[in-house]
Amino acid sequence: MKNAKIAGIGYYVPEKIVTNNDLTKVMDTSDEWIQERTGIKERRYAEKHKESTSTLGVKAAEIAIERAGITAADVDFIIFATLSPDYYFPGCAVLLQRQMGIQGIGALDIRNQCSGFVYGLSIADQFVKTGMYKNVLLVGSEVHSFGLDFSTKGRNVTVIFGDGAGAVVLQPTDDKKSGILSTHLHADGDYAEKLAYLNPGCHGGVHLGTEEFGYPDQEFGGAYLTEKMWQDEQYYPNMEGQAVFKMAVQKFPEVIMEALQTNGLETKDVDMLIPHQANLRISQFVQKRLGLRDDQVWNNIQKYGNTTAASIPIALCEAWEAGKVKDGDLVCMAAFGSGFTWGSALIRW
Ligand code: ACO
Repeated sequence: MKNAKIAGIGYYVPEKIVTNNDLTKVMDTSDEWIQERTGIKERRYAEKHKESTSTLGVKAAEIAIERAGITAADVDFIIFATLSPDYYFPGCAVLLQRQMGIQGIGALDIRNQCSGFVYGLSIADQFVKTGMYKNVLLVGSEVHSFGLDFSTKGRNVTVIFGDGAGAVVLQPTDDKKSGILSTHLHADGDYAEKLAYLNPGCHGGVHLGTEEFGYPDQEFGGAYLTEKMWQDEQYYPNMEGQAVFKMAVQKFPEVIMEALQTNGLETKDVDMLIPHQANLRISQFVQKRLGLRDDQVWNNIQKYGNTTAASIPIALCEAWEAGKVKDGDLVCMAAFGSGFTWGSALIRW
């Protein structure tokens, strides 16, 4: 079996910059609160009627494809990770495929939220390793800003998220010592409603939660919103911030160590850790727990907020463009998010 390597990488963020002070004009919040709790200074928002999750994905994909030295026609499989798809269905992979003019090949959507890119990388790795595909395009893209609550009620969630996209092209390599060394995926559905966007959904009003966590009393819905859902504003994401924080700071270090130990490596061997940009406080906690130096960790949440499935490829691409990820470097990616899901990937660049 061959190893899979990242042959090309690209990212795209919308032009519109929204600062913390901009948000204070529509909700009761402050630059100080947001920076202190999350590290975020500004984020990008997509332009209505012009941009969407799939169009941002296309822009990132075009860059990744060019840098891989191929054309779109050479791509033989598409994986698209997002929690903010253009449509309820079909997914974004086919929409990206149509825009890129590469109809006919397989197109897969995955729904693993903040862990979407790491899950996607693991899937792509299996396809490339087995020889099934030679140029897998993996995209992580989000447009959060069209689905957030901009009233004060939604401030705990809204201030955190931003829009953007990142993409990579995976190709086989004969060099068994480089490329993706291993991937590690985990999930715990007991926490499904701790960070969730419940409606519209086909839960049919069934009590799906565990005894411990309960489940909000949802009216019977479907792939549509009922009048009561509108009245109760049950159409925004909800997050129990402290529960997320508590699990994230436990699972990030665990899954990073799992990747290193699997490969007989230690934290001192890591040239660059690319954590999912959930919250700067979470990344700093993880860095401290693992005893990593500042130059071993890449953070850019200050500029983009949390871009969920796009955050790792955006951060990885930025680090690579800045010359901080070089041939032979050991790169670790780690994610944690809704589900709860978490995972890591170790790459010899
Ligand atoms: N601006 C001002 N005040 C706010 C805001 C805001 N944007 N949001 C909440 N508050 C207020 C609350 O209303 C509350 O006020 P009260 O004391 O009068 O009731 C107070 O701030 C404290 O609220 P908490 O929710 O307890 O705040 P906490 O200290 O837990 O911080 C935060 C919230 C930042 C979300 C924190 O829990 C956190 O970092 N959690 C991790 C969640 C995370 O990072 N999610 C990212 C997405 S998930 C992922 O990518 C893995």
